[in-house]
Amino acid sequence: MVMWEGRFKKEIDKRTNDFNSSIRFDKRMYKEDITGSIAHATMLGKCGIISEQESEKIINGLKTILKDLENGELEFDMTSEDIHMFIEGELTKRIGDSGKRLHTARSRNDQVALDLRLYMKNEISEIIKLLKQLISELINQAEKHYETIMPGYTHLQRAQPITLAHYFMAYVEMFKRDILRLKDAYKRMNINPLGSCALAGTTYNTDRYMTSKLLGFDGPCLNSLDGVSDRDYAIEITSDLSIIMMHLSRISEEFIMWCSHEFKFIELDDAFSTGSSIMPQKKNPDITELIRGKSGRVYGDLISLLVVMKSLPLAYDKDMQEDKEAIFDATDNVKMCLYTFIPMFNTTTFLKDNMLKAAKKGFINATDAADYLVKKGIPFRTAYKIVGSIVAYAIDNDKTLDTITIDEYKQFSDLIDEDIYEYIDLKKAVCDRTVVGGPAPETVKKHVEEIKKFLETI
Ligand code: ARG
Repeated sequence: MVMWEGRFKKEIDKRTNDFNSSIRFDKRMYKEDITGSIAHATMLGKCGIISEQESEKIINGLKTILKDLENGELEFDMTSEDIHMFIEGELTKRIGDSGKRLHTARSRNDQVALDLRLYMKNEISEIIKLLKQLISELINQAEKHYETIMPGYTHLQRAQPITLAHYFMAYVEMFKRDILRLKDAYKRMNINPLGSCALAGTTYNTDRYMTSKLLGFDGPCLNSLDGVSDRDYAIEITSDLSIIMMHLSRISEEFIMWCSHEFKFIELDDAFSTGSSIMPQKKNPDITELIRGKSGRVYGDLISLLVVMKSLPLAYDKDMQEDKEAIFDATDNVKMCLYTFIPMFNTTTFLKDNMLKAAKKGFINATDAADYLVKKGIPFRTAYKIVGSIVAYAIDNDKTLDTITIDEYKQFSDLIDEDIYEYIDLKKAVCDRTVVGGPAPETVKKHVEEIKKFLETI
């Protein structure tokens, strides 16, 4: 029988109950629900709202439920409306009337708001741990590739020489920001809604500071209407998760291109690739493609949350039950992607020679040739034009900037001497870019050291 049997003369229609219930997805918050209820019962006992003995009985009952759920001796009753009803009902089955006192000075509205925050706190910690692991792997690889020259691209056209380490460190910066964003969201989220009750607080003499402390919150929320209706944190975190997915999707896209025969910059490990059911020669980058695809799905979760919350009148509305599947889907998928991407990245072979070969084509030292002329006193715009003509000449004559002879160079400017070859050398072009943030090995090494410090302090 349902909790509100007093007011109703009939049982709920079966199909409507299935439609209305959320236990099939909110059952995963059983631990958070029990933890929250234990804190609530402790507070009720300490404040004299229920007797200390009853508080203890409730707490012990809740602990046995947790144990039995974890060891598989208790199964979820899928006809319950939600995890909150299920656990309260089970408690009353086990300890009798004392169980009926647990819901004093509480509502499912503040209960679900609490459970979801507790759940998200754990998820955020786990995702931050994974991001730190990913950053560690990226800097490990960076340390092996300070001198690995590759073309840097704009518009996916070869642009200027960089190193593989410099490339990896770009992603390190992105994932670093992701960690900082999650930490920041965590601070705003770490506020306790319990005690807001249905919407208007309570006349009981509850102690919301006590439950906040017991549950690891910085303090209680200061408005009960906001307490039960706020899902900003879910939107904010799912937005942070969407950005993580965008970063993973960008690196995935590059890996997809790089393992094609057109690039051949990397070779994926067999354990992280798949074959084709028909084409025997195929080795496909399914993992990275799936990560790229899942970014769309997490963005979808974010949009769902925004649309569910749009125009909802205060305080709780049942629409808000739709929040959980989106949040669970986003956190599950981000974790899955990170768990797969990290070892895949770790086992990838980087084909340095092919990267260098690609860097030698495409005139990526043309800017350096222009800078050479600037150093000889020519204004940059003029130098740019001269080198443009040299590149056009080289293309017509199937040459590169290194194979054009000095006599040919002289036709474009008699300021060009033998030292041009040294100046446009790719290694020099990279090593001279010592500007903060640039690809010079010594600069990237400093960056790696900074990040190691960051990982220790975060
Ligand atoms: N299952 C509900 C949810 O997920 C719990 C809160 C129900 N509150 C209510 N007043 N019906 O949102």
